[in-house]
Amino acid sequence: MSLELTAPTPEEPSVAADGTWLECIECGAQFAPFDDVRYTCDDCDGLLEVRYASPPTWDDFEGRGVWRYNAALPFEEGVSLPEGATPLHTVPRLESDIGVETLRIKHEGMNPTGSFKDRGMTVGVRVAKELGVGRLACASTGNTSAALAAYGARDGMETLVLLPAGKVAAGKIAQASLHDARILEVDGNFDSCLDIVQDLAARGEVYLLNSLNPFRLEGQKTIGLEILEEFHEDYGTYPDRIVLPVGNAGNTSALYKAFRELVQSGALDAEDVPKLTGVQADGAAPMVEAIENGWDETRRWDDVETRATAIRIGNPVNAPKALPGIRETGGTAVAVSDEEITEAQRDLAAEGVGVEPASAASVAGLRKLRENGTVSEDEQVVCLTTGHLLKDPDAAFEAGDDPEPVPNDTDAVLEHLAE
Ligand code: F0G
Repeated sequence: MSLELTAPTPEEPSVAADGTWLECIECGAQFAPFDDVRYTCDDCDGLLEVRYASPPTWDDFEGRGVWRYNAALPFEEGVSLPEGATPLHTVPRLESDIGVETLRIKHEGMNPTGSFKDRGMTVGVRVAKELGVGRLACASTGNTSAALAAYGARDGMETLVLLPAGKVAAGKIAQASLHDARILEVDGNFDSCLDIVQDLAARGEVYLLNSLNPFRLEGQKTIGLEILEEFHEDYGTYPDRIVLPVGNAGNTSALYKAFRELVQSGALDAEDVPKLTGVQADGAAPMVEAIENGWDETRRWDDVETRATAIRIGNPVNAPKALPGIRETGGTAVAVSDEEITEAQRDLAAEGVGVEPASAASVAGLRKLRENGTVSEDEQVVCLTTGHLLKDPDAAFEAGDDPEPVPNDTDAVLEHLAE
């Protein structure tokens, strides 16, 4: 099976261009990477992966940010703002409160548009140029649309985004709007938006830049590469576990692919690969359901609800890539309540780390898994926080304290403070 952690480096097929090709994860069909626009397998409609004849080793990396890792990417450089090189925060109080040996927070909210989606877009928009396509499009719970709008604008391309009406946080719509995307609000959830944009792409109307597009995930692999490099520099080891929020399961798939390629090149031992641990909200947890039941695919949830609107997703399209990633690394998946997410958002904020609700799910999930004994006290853990606090100002106000009105007078202010 092509998604095994210890699968050998593949033989370069004749369709490859510069040692790069596309391969179906279901039937193994291989395709030239840039001859045609293609999102899934021509033969069986399975998901495609970008494959390389020479997977990267640590010595190949130089520079900073996503393009430091160009030896692991299909191009030398891309349309850049620039992205990546995000902080790996220490959180000493939270670390001892949750009770693990090490806890670090990889804050992807510190990317140019405030989420990890920028890493995928810098590569995705570069591929769009290569293919010579016209209009770029995505369905989105918000962050993908903000990143697409910004990177499209940077490259002077037309962008179209489909959003679930009333379910996208204010900061994200503001970004898509100012970066001049055409915004369509669909009377449906994210999964319906994705159905429509996939239809538009199949009819040749748009170039699809959701994580179904295998090139997006190439950029997102660099989160995993950065975490391993930085963590190793600080501790001389790799983290035992990486905990991340899961929506469409693109990031889970991308991190797993990064680790698989390092194992292929001999840069990383299979037993050093961190356990990929996915967290979903109780109201939108098809991946958790599949992991708990030992299923190879997810069941589509038609009714999804959570305060963490970024991961309000019932049909994770990348599940066939992500489920093997969680299982092969010895990880797991867990669901958390909206209250637990809010609590974790406050805990992170108390350490100075401001994140949107979906991001806090990773910390809420870790706490739950530590409490039920799945995670042990001697583990070294990295939690991924995927989006910035300012993405969802309404959620931040709800979780935080209200401002206090005072008179325009110093004595009155002192009196109020003394109350
Ligand atoms: N966290 C945030 C802040 C997100 O915006 C998303 C996905 C995820 C986690 C889940 O990541 O899909 O790779 O499992 N947001 C997409 C969007 C769906 O449209 O912005 P995943």
